[in-house]
Amino acid sequence: MDQQQKKLRVAAAAMEFLSDGMVLGVGTGSTVNALLDHIGQPENNWAKRLHGAVSSSEQSTRRLRELGVPLIDLNDIDQLDLYIDGADEANDRLELVKGGGGALTREKIIAATATRFVCIIDESKLVPRLGAFPLPVEVIPMARHQVAQRIAQWGGHPVHRAGFVTDNGNHILDVHGLAIDEPAELEGELNQIAGVVTVGLFARRPADLMLVGTDSGVRRLQRLA
Ligand code: A5P
Repeated sequence: MDQQQKKLRVAAAAMEFLSDGMVLGVGTGSTVNALLDHIGQPENNWAKRLHGAVSSSEQSTRRLRELGVPLIDLNDIDQLDLYIDGADEANDRLELVKGGGGALTREKIIAATATRFVCIIDESKLVPRLGAFPLPVEVIPMARHQVAQRIAQWGGHPVHRAGFVTDNGNHILDVHGLAIDEPAELEGELNQIAGVVTVGLFARRPADLMLVGTDSGVRRLQRLA
């Protein structure tokens, strides 16, 4: 079974967490797109059964519109029941690296709001130590060089994602060569650099449940309190 088939499998498994009338937080990426394919199947009618969706990116917003799912502004709700999103890397503590698609800031806002965060990945994303995937950091454009210099002092190799502008009008540094042993600590430290908007580490607010698509089925990892 290839990676895409595992993404389809795990996206199908995530459908059991949907319930009638809920507001769903929708992440970004190919695994989430597979989830949206399921939501759009007319026989399920989920596009109408959901109260609506809070989207994490312009890309997902376009898909939700096509499917006829009502879009909800996060400012109009007090609470979000469920957020479903993929990840670029995950460990067994359900700490994540996200932002490969550049949507990390809105994803982090939605994750922080959601009562429950279900992360859907194929098994290639599950790693013993985070950091092999370059860590995305969204920065205010005028601060890009300064932030890169600060990060380089800690041993990372920040690379400007050339030609890419986030949905918020910012730039991305992809930081190579970080061995992330203390994800929550590093997330806090990088957040403190002036000009950093969002760090693609989701350790202070990790996932609550992770579904992992494998050759043999879907493995579940629960966050331990
Ligand atoms: C988007 O910015 C990312 O955080 C995605 O969640 C991540 O890149 C997962 O993407 P795939 O589902 O396409 O692997």
